[in-house]
Amino acid sequence: MKILNNKVALVTGAGSGIGLAIAKLYAKEGAKVIVSDINEEHGKSAVEEIKSEAGEATFIKADTSNPEQVEALVNATVETYGRLDIACNNAGIGGEQSTTGDYSIDSWKKVLNVNLDGVFYGCKYELTQMEKNGGGVIVNIASIHGTVAAPLSSAYTAAKHAVVGLSKNIGAEYGQKNIRCNAVGPGYIETPLLESASGDMKQALIAKHPMGRLGTSEEVAELVLFLSSDKSSFMTGGYYLVDGGYTAV
Ligand SMILES: NC(=O)c1ccc[n+]([C@@H]2O[C@H](COP(=O)([O-])OP(=O)(O)OC[C@H]3O[C@@H](n4cnc5c(N)ncnc54)[C@H](O)[C@@H]3O)[C@@H](O)[C@H]2O)c1
Repeated sequence: MKILNNKVALVTGAGSGIGLAIAKLYAKEGAKVIVSDINEEHGKSAVEEIKSEAGEATFIKADTSNPEQVEALVNATVETYGRLDIACNNAGIGGEQSTTGDYSIDSWKKVLNVNLDGVFYGCKYELTQMEKNGGGVIVNIASIHGTVAAPLSSAYTAAKHAVVGLSKNIGAEYGQKNIRCNAVGPGYIETPLLESASGDMKQALIAKHPMGRLGTSEEVAELVLFLSSDKSSFMTGGYYLVDGGYTAV
């Protein structure tokens, strides 16, 4: 029995890395999936991949840092598949690497705009739709940097901490409306986001994980699937790590 049968799911940033793995797993578990991304080529190819594995998916382009586009995305999801049961707000960027005193204001605004405002816009319009449905589930992709520092990435750390707080607030506000919301904190995951890291930097990152390796997108997707399904029916307002032990030491 597929655990997301008859569910409609929306994933942002689903053209690559963690979002792609989540969209594929949702579809494998029976959900009809809206694959959304700012990158049309990657989003369309994700849909092809899902369809080639007998899944159901549709691509809708949206820039999550633009509230009008996010509202239109949620409306288009409902026009396409009739409802919205599950939303994973995953789209995110790394941003500039500098100490906080040197961090440029433009970079700060850009990172906060995508990694925090974008998640808020998603939640705002998803919640409105889920209230109409009579329920739903939201999973926001934060990071281990929702609880520990990422030296040289203060905007990223600030945004991810805020995503954890936002998810707690939604959990508190919507507990009696049959809507659950949780945040996920991945450790460093082997995705295109880490492509710019040099070999030495990658080794240093690996060394921070007691398991002695980076994670995979599929390992993150398994936790997201659990939190998106009825198997986690008493879980809301939480923040769950999938980090190879990074935050344990
Ligand atoms: N890779 C890691 O080590 C890691 C660790 C913890 C958390 N995360 C988080 O996981 C999420 C996904 O990261 P990833 O590693 O898969 O990155 P990725 O770069 O592989 O994928 C991110 C996707 O988001 C899309 N995107 C970027 N800006 C967008 C926007 N404004 N609107 C819509 N789509 C946009 C990109 O086109 C891309 O397809 C991010 O929120 C990231 O912060 C990643």
